[in-house]
Amino acid sequence: MGDLKQLIAKPLKGPKTSHQSEYKDAAVSEGRAPAPMPFMMIRVLCLISLLVLGLLITTISQSFSDLTLFNSPPPQYLYWGSRIDCPGKHCDTCAGLGHQESSLRCALEEALFLRRTFVMPSQMCLNQIHNDKGILRGSNNSGDFEGWGVSSSAMDSLYDLALISKTVRVILDSSAEWREALAKARILNTAIDVQGISRSKLREESPYTEAMVINRTASPLAWFVECSDRKNHTNVLLPYSFLPKMASKPLKVAAEKVMKKLGDYDAIHVRRGDKIKLRKDRFGVKRTMFPHLDRDTRASAILKRVGNWIPEGRTLFIASNEREPGFFDPLGTRYKLAFISHFKDIVDPVVQNNYQLFIIERLILFGAKTYVKTFKEEPSDLSLTDDVKKKLRAWEIPVYTFDESPSPS
Ligand SMILES: *[C@@H]1O[C@H](CO)[C@@H](O)[C@H](O)[C@H]1NC(C)=O
Ligand SMILES: *[C@@H]1O[C@H](CO)[C@@H](O)[C@H](O)[C@H]1NC(C)=O
Ligand SMILES: *[C@@H]1O[C@H](CO)[C@@H](O)[C@H](O)[C@H]1NC(C)=O
Repeated sequence: MGDLKQLIAKPLKGPKTSHQSEYKDAAVSEGRAPAPMPFMMIRVLCLISLLVLGLLITTISQSFSDLTLFNSPPPQYLYWGSRIDCPGKHCDTCAGLGHQESSLRCALEEALFLRRTFVMPSQMCLNQIHNDKGILRGSNNSGDFEGWGVSSSAMDSLYDLALISKTVRVILDSSAEWREALAKARILNTAIDVQGISRSKLREESPYTEAMVINRTASPLAWFVECSDRKNHTNVLLPYSFLPKMASKPLKVAAEKVMKKLGDYDAIHVRRGDKIKLRKDRFGVKRTMFPHLDRDTRASAILKRVGNWIPEGRTLFIASNEREPGFFDPLGTRYKLAFISHFKDIVDPVVQNNYQLFIIERLILFGAKTYVKTFKEEPSDLSLTDDVKKKLRAWEIPVYTFDESPSPS
């Protein structure tokens, strides 16, 4: 038994070791490939082949993406007209930035829903009431209205189209792409002019689904009327903050420079101007849209209300359309006040109109540690007034006192 074990064990062990040594010997005896050389060479070769492989992979993946681009269907377009809002006969006037943004957002939501490229007007109409230079000059404009002398603003000077396109692809109606696409679609009879057809039909039914161009005639009142059912949560919704965040690069850079100078700051947006205007009813009684707004946006009221949210000594950035000099001075007893007019050197070179200026101000407001809006828009918002921002034209008698019992007359 012992011998047998040895017999089996020996040959098993034996040849292995001898074999190994044989190899070693052979390599040495034949003198082939001295050891240090191949080591270096292998390393170099490895590096080169890695580089080549990397190059190869990028070219292949590039040609693949070219291929997929080639294979993906050409873009389909949605066109709503050459200007945002053209309310009926009053096409010579236009709304403020906020209204036009609501309208533009409405159109973008539809493009998103239809999975189409939105063809944006290349210009935004400027409302002259909202386009005086007073804000930047820090002067009232009651007698000396100084406008910017322009009636429209290039859309790409307001918004970063490449950034918007990350959510919904947009091009300008002045672009070569649009001119070519429209010409082609007209020739191929694949441009459809529609009016009063629902969004779901446009998305689901022939011939709209195949149409290269859908030319939609939006409401003659205002584009945003098309989104009056925003409460329907099955619809695609872009948040109100979408367009403000899409500000063009020069405006963003200017806002960032101002914010850097402000350092750690809080902000309030005080909307007065057109919002507090009065109108006499047929009995000669003065009425206003927001009965408490004038009262709530005066310096003394602001001081009382924001005191709970903004501690004394803070830097307070104020954005307002109020022109009366010294209107906000009482706030200076508690806060270090800052206005956009203090940053003319940063802002002047990049703004040609008031909409651009307000887009910068808005970014600064959003960047504040504590931001108090004029109206409450979201449940979590801090606001200067409790008046409701959105309501249908019920003009009310303004209230100027904090004691709301009717005054004897
Ligand atoms: C879009 O349709 C309207 C109304 O039918 C028409 O007046 C307009 O010329 C059309 N626009 C384009 C770009 O085809
Ligand atoms: C909500 O929108 C969807 C899709 O557009 C539509 O089918 C549905 O009827 C709408 N619901 C209401 C209550 O309007
Ligand atoms: C507006 O400014 C002018 C001079 O620039 C001044 O005379 C006038 O009193 C100011 N108006 C108001 C309401 O402060």
